[in-house]
Amino acid sequence: MTRIIGIAGSLRRSSWNAAILRAAVELMPPESSLEIGSIAGIPLYNEDDETLRGIPPAVTVLKDAIVAADGLLLATPEYNNSVPGVAKNAFDWLTRPARDVPRVFRGRPVALAGGSPGGFGTLLAQNAWLPVFRTLGVDFWAGGRLLVSRVATLVDADGNITDEPTREAIRAFMAGFVAHIRRR
Ligand code: FNR
Repeated sequence: MTRIIGIAGSLRRSSWNAAILRAAVELMPPESSLEIGSIAGIPLYNEDDETLRGIPPAVTVLKDAIVAADGLLLATPEYNNSVPGVAKNAFDWLTRPARDVPRVFRGRPVALAGGSPGGFGTLLAQNAWLPVFRTLGVDFWAGGRLLVSRVATLVDADGNITDEPTREAIRAFMAGFVAHIRRR
């Protein structure tokens, strides 16, 4: 069984990126699963707070879920042609304390996906994450791309992705990432 943890880099209740993860849960290859984690409840990083109170529970829960998984999928929104602050803030917390980075991230398979209402499907946000993952020493999977453009046109009334070509792209992307993990 190959287990992946998926994180949407958005706090929005009707997040398109959360919708991509929900679709991916249904479209995983055999003998694999995608569990959805959350950045909700992670406070703004302040080193004074870390010194006084340590690592917040929401951060510890997510770190433990990443460690327990065989791979990490980040579905990122794009804000101003870069990463959203809430998502970067969550990852900054996930790298604390710094001595824990090898346990949580080093060598860990990581894939990036994203969707946006616009035409570029988070291309620039995904590129902007690359230096972060390089710094963390992850095993970044570059064997596939999932850039979901005009995502608002691809969903049903409940915000679930129903567009068949998009679902096929998600299915192929997850199959590629799982195959990468199994080849290691
Ligand atoms: C955006 N959005 C956006 N979209 C995009 O494709 N490129 C961009 O540079 C930006 N910039 C941007 C900045 C800010 C401050 C906001 C609030 C929004 C639109 C963005 O893609 C849209 O809000 C998505 O719905 C965000 O993803 P979730 O929350 O639906 O997952």
